Amino acid sequence: MAIPWWRDAVVYEIYVRSFADASGDGVGDLAGIRQRLPYLRRLGVDALWLTPFYPSPMADGGYDVADYRGVDPLFGSLGDFEALVADAHEHGLRVVVDIVPNHSSAEHPWFKEALRGEHRDRYVFRSSPERPNNWQSTFGGPAWTQVADGQWYLHLFAPDQPDFNWRNPEVHAEFLDVLRFWLDRGVDGFRIDVAMGLYKAEGLPDVEDQSFQSKSPVWGQPEVHEVYRRWRALLDTYPGERMAVGEVWTDDPADLARYVRPDELHQSFNFAWLQAPWSATAFRKVIDDTLATVPYATWVLSNHDVVRHRTRYETADPGTGLARAKAALLTMLALPGSAYLYQGEELGLPEVKDLPPEARQDPVFFQTGGEMPGRDGCRVPLPWTADGASYGFSPDEVLPWLPQPDSFGALSVAAQDGDPHSTLEFYRRSLALRRELVAETPHTIEWLDSTADTLFFARGPMVCVLNCGTEQVPLPPHDRVLLASGHLPEDRLLPPDTAAWLHA
Ligand code: GLC
Repeated sequence: MAIPWWRDAVVYEIYVRSFADASGDGVGDLAGIRQRLPYLRRLGVDALWLTPFYPSPMADGGYDVADYRGVDPLFGSLGDFEALVADAHEHGLRVVVDIVPNHSSAEHPWFKEALRGEHRDRYVFRSSPERPNNWQSTFGGPAWTQVADGQWYLHLFAPDQPDFNWRNPEVHAEFLDVLRFWLDRGVDGFRIDVAMGLYKAEGLPDVEDQSFQSKSPVWGQPEVHEVYRRWRALLDTYPGERMAVGEVWTDDPADLARYVRPDELHQSFNFAWLQAPWSATAFRKVIDDTLATVPYATWVLSNHDVVRHRTRYETADPGTGLARAKAALLTMLALPGSAYLYQGEELGLPEVKDLPPEARQDPVFFQTGGEMPGRDGCRVPLPWTADGASYGFSPDEVLPWLPQPDSFGALSVAAQDGDPHSTLEFYRRSLALRRELVAETPHTIEWLDSTADTLFFARGPMVCVLNCGTEQVPLPPHDRVLLASGHLPEDRLLPPDTAAWLHA
């Protein structure tokens, strides 16, 4: 069987609001992405994942969808979307779009009808004098809101994001039709938001622990798999290997394997590395568990919901952030499977921690009364030029929707382009070399002897080494160094917080 395109793909996540603004309103848009396709092609990624661009009141940055078959005027038009897909394909880039099936916006016509007392069984409504159970919203506060006539509706996220009732066949039919709508417009796949949501346990029992666990009555109910079997059957009727990747939060790789099956999803995000400390032992366990259980592995270091990995490493051990971020990238790119990058990590962008409260937009900040900073810090618009009001994110003197720190000028694309020591050029070199090497490497790894603080593994003729310790370690003998994440001294020693690729 030919290797499917997504198996080893490097997918670049575009948080649409923050990538590039062509219209000049301070918010990123589809035309902005289209203008930057040559940049993405040159970076060397295979596919783009676009976060939601559908009509939305933006209570959760677009993850509150009011119309699943349109484009919010903030981001452009359906024509802009079609032009973007056509141009991306011309550039050899696939396009994966986000689909949000767990909940809609409170502004969705179905929910407006439900509020008027019609067709409430499309959502999860209950009559009860008190809250129907003790479930909490993932964003903070109770997961139930009462409507005017006294009933309660369930929302696992913001109150503006009512959960659908997947026990109603109408919801199934609607989403199959939504998938068809975008497949007919040429999308290459879907990223499924909260893929372990959708069904809740019958009777909605109270929970003791609300974490994202497969055993919880809130998440990962067995019925959800039937949904993905139907979706897969639909995807398989289209030419060109359309794919689906699920957002499944779990700390057990065996949970991921329940979704990734020949008749279900092609991939699901593997967040295990993202949650692991900087430790060779921890990384080795993540790699072993993943490769042993999930047929098609994925690797993720950052996304629009978590603190950027440069800053995670920096916070744990000041002074190490960028070196570790680059070393982790090189290691991840050497592993079998596909890698998901988050916009701006190729520039080494840090989390922006000091956003003033009045600039913050994330419901997490508001629903926790400011106790949690929320996710705005990883969503600050990208800097394209070294100066200007928005560092080239928006045209003219327009200010972006979230303020950028002064440090963004030196981290901009223009400042790094062509500088062989820059993070951007390191990403370009790594992605180009991976493209060359993947074709000649087997889809397995073999561990090589190394000290407890290091990882050495071979993929056919290629060897990857990572030093998580505090001492320099000798490189394996006889191998030629192809690329390193930091400076390697002449004497074939691998410094701490550094990874390298070698060739026999
Ligand atoms: C997913 C998205 C996140 C969003 C949530 C609710 O976790 O990645 O950004 O807030 O779902 O839709």
